[in-house]
Amino acid sequence: MSSYIMLTGMFLLMRSLADDLSDHVDVFQGSEGGGNNFPGVARPFGMVKLGPDLYQSGADAYSGYLSTGEFSGFSMMHEQGTGGAPKYGTVAQLPLVGNIDDPLSHITVARDGTDQASVGYYKANTDDGVEVELSASSRAGIYRYTFPSDSQENNILVDVSHVLPSFRGQGLGQNYKGGNLTIFEDGHYEGLGTYDNGWNEAPDWTIFFCGHFDSDAVSSKAYTAVNSDKSVEQPSGSVSSTSNSTAVGGVFTFSDSEITSRVGISWISTEQACNNVDQEIPKGTDFAAVVEDAVLEWNTKVFSKITTTSTNSTSLSLLYTSLYHMHLIPTNQTGENPGWDSSEPYYQDIFTFWDLFRCSTALMQVLQPNAYEEQIRSLIDIWRHDGYLPDARSSNYNGRTQGGSNADNILADAYVKGVRGQVDWEDGYRAMVKDAEITPANHPVDPMAPDSSTHHGRGALPDWLSLGYITPRFSRAVTRAVEYACNDFGLYQVASGLGKHSDAQKYLNRSQNWRNHWNPDQTSLGFSGFVVPRDKNGFIQTDPAKDGGYWGDPYYEGGSWAYSWNDVHDMRHLIELMGGPEKTVKRLETVFDKGLFDSTNEPMFNLPYLYNYVDRQDLSVSRSRNVAKSEYHTGKTGLPGNSDAGAMQTWLLWNMIGLYPITGQTTFLIHSPWFESLSIDLGGGKKLEISSTGGDGNGDSDYYVSSLKVNGKEWKKNWLEWEDVFADGGRLEFELGPTAVNWTSGPLPPSPASN
Ligand SMILES: *[C@@H]1O[C@H](CO)[C@@H](O)[C@H](O)[C@H]1NC(C)=O
Ligand SMILES: *[C@@H]1O[C@H](CO)[C@@H](O)[C@H](O)[C@H]1NC(C)=O
Ligand SMILES: *[C@@H]1O[C@H](CO)[C@@H](O)[C@H](O)[C@H]1NC(C)=O
Ligand SMILES: *[C@@H]1O[C@H](CO)[C@@H](O)[C@H](O)[C@H]1NC(C)=O
Ligand SMILES: *[C@@H]1O[C@H](CO)[C@@H](O)[C@H](O)[C@H]1NC(C)=O
Ligand SMILES: *[C@@H]1O[C@H](CO)[C@@H](O)[C@H](O)[C@H]1NC(C)=O
Repeated sequence: MSSYIMLTGMFLLMRSLADDLSDHVDVFQGSEGGGNNFPGVARPFGMVKLGPDLYQSGADAYSGYLSTGEFSGFSMMHEQGTGGAPKYGTVAQLPLVGNIDDPLSHITVARDGTDQASVGYYKANTDDGVEVELSASSRAGIYRYTFPSDSQENNILVDVSHVLPSFRGQGLGQNYKGGNLTIFEDGHYEGLGTYDNGWNEAPDWTIFFCGHFDSDAVSSKAYTAVNSDKSVEQPSGSVSSTSNSTAVGGVFTFSDSEITSRVGISWISTEQACNNVDQEIPKGTDFAAVVEDAVLEWNTKVFSKITTTSTNSTSLSLLYTSLYHMHLIPTNQTGENPGWDSSEPYYQDIFTFWDLFRCSTALMQVLQPNAYEEQIRSLIDIWRHDGYLPDARSSNYNGRTQGGSNADNILADAYVKGVRGQVDWEDGYRAMVKDAEITPANHPVDPMAPDSSTHHGRGALPDWLSLGYITPRFSRAVTRAVEYACNDFGLYQVASGLGKHSDAQKYLNRSQNWRNHWNPDQTSLGFSGFVVPRDKNGFIQTDPAKDGGYWGDPYYEGGSWAYSWNDVHDMRHLIELMGGPEKTVKRLETVFDKGLFDSTNEPMFNLPYLYNYVDRQDLSVSRSRNVAKSEYHTGKTGLPGNSDAGAMQTWLLWNMIGLYPITGQTTFLIHSPWFESLSIDLGGGKKLEISSTGGDGNGDSDYYVSSLKVNGKEWKKNWLEWEDVFADGGRLEFELGPTAVNWTSGPLPPSPASN
């Protein structure tokens, strides 16, 4: 009751503030139907992501949440929108009513009703009649439990062996490896848990925790359970295990019906976990104050970065919900790096660059220039200490690399767009050269792709260096080849900028080697020429209409219809290989008309915009708009596929903005904005203002461009550069209309590798 009054009062107060943009966010958007969005509570880049863990045999709960199943805990650590296999779900509590006979037997409790949540706040009810409310700061969380008023035995279970399971049978399930828990005389508890595996096949990692209750417990008991036998109480109040076979945990029993718990986590020590909670959610903190602070932080640091005059609630929800879900990871773990001492910033939970390099990191730079500089510095510091840049990283461990070493693309993008500050670019370039020249040891061996490393770097480098293509002795050979070419283009960019001219020439040359996989005689649906597998005897026949595959195949999560378009740095040459502009337009049209376009995954992200390279900007507008409006929706099933750390969301945001970045170059392809006005805060007092007239104000119709002014001047190119509108801010004024008009006459977007 009291919680209801307090929160209602608070929300009324916030609604009265004109700029509470968090109102537009639906944290459950994309949480079902394969989107895997995390609907729990977190701060931007926050280390804590506090939310429910649902257990349903056979269903992997990638971000902890499922709309079905039973609660197995409410835990502090999650990923955002990922696929592959669940990671984390660690440091949990679970409220239970009545006598608990066997606390460490992986108890679950049914859900009552539907969970409710908003930015900074989560609420669920269990079948025992307990209401659970959650909020969080960056490195601590707060739980508020309201037990039934007639219940006297109100328990909070802390099971250190709790972790999100996987049922996919791919050997990627996480394991509990040991832990400890000590209950102190003042009623608080401290401990640690060790776990391994998950999607990135990580070795043992340890998280520390420190929990407080604001009420005195009637009893606090520590337990162990050996080999899943019945839990045994340990009277010392302190339990410890270095083995996966002994679960440890505690049960805290209260007679009060409202219990608040504050929990801190740390990657360093229990002491640091206690400091984190004491600093961020000190004793006596009002639950509502944490929620209010979370809303304020999201508004200030994230939502206020993009404003629009649009009043369409569907569009506003998509805009601010997308911004929300793209800022949950990476995690800012600066000062919380268990691997090495460094004064550099530290970010992890990169899941993954293979998903994010195409258009997401470019938007991160635009919206969060300070955080982005820190992220770039962190990447370079990971290379300094772990030997390679990560393509993905969670639990402080690199992996897995799906295709190329795509951090190279991201560093190149940051470099050409002027990210400097405290970035040591000589080291950044050294890290890229490591990717390009030194084959990573194949250790540990990835059972799903045993031929070469998926830990970091470029596993198939030996063929790439000696042959200029990749033979089938390496899995994902075609995907890796076309991505390595793109990575080498990234090295060319940075080498050029740093004045390393012979390196630049060498890598530009290598960036053309994707061409070695181009079989002009491979046909599909009336088109000739595709990137195909090959060995020393020549090209190997494939069936482009159905050659998409997975870890062990020539193509990864896409096929030759997708990967043939990969090397946009060499687009003019690709267009020649495809038979010229007209044939290229036809081929793109075929992708959409014949249902070959896959909006659920990243390899085809760029495709709807590539018409700009063949002077058909109007088709980029209509095709990309059709994808945006038909595949992305409000509501729980609103994403076409896994969010992938916000990759899907950033694709949608660029569609609203009217530009699309070509990562690794300063180029942005111009299509058409959704709204009559949109303003992006670029930091340092700079703004990008985008306006349109003649459209429907919502991007549903009348979206063709008839003219454009950039910074007040008539603009005839279908692309622009970072310097034009981002470096110092700028203004785009579109005139839109119902029919396609040829408004362009300028040079086509650059193809720097095509000379
Ligand atoms: C729990 O782990 C911490 C950190 O390793 C250690 O300092 C402490 O002694 C352990 N406690 C017990 C009871 O084993
Ligand atoms: C503990 O690890 C061993 C060795 O990996 C494994 O065989 C065993 O099943 C594990 N036990 C539990 C309870 O997970
Ligand atoms: C708001 O946008 C949605 C989706 O584009 C559209 O279907 C709806 O008609 C719009 N509502 C209004 C009032 O314009
Ligand atoms: C990242 O965390 C560190 C340590 O708390 C902090 O100093 C820094 O400002 C954070 N970065 C951002 C962008 O918030
Ligand atoms: C580029 O590559 C070709 C073939 O591999 C080679 O003959 C040529 O010398 C290279 N050029 C440079 C500048 O490295
Ligand atoms: C668009 O107009 C320009 C300038 O008149 C012309 O050069 C170009 O070929 C036209 N493009 C198309 C696709 O018709």
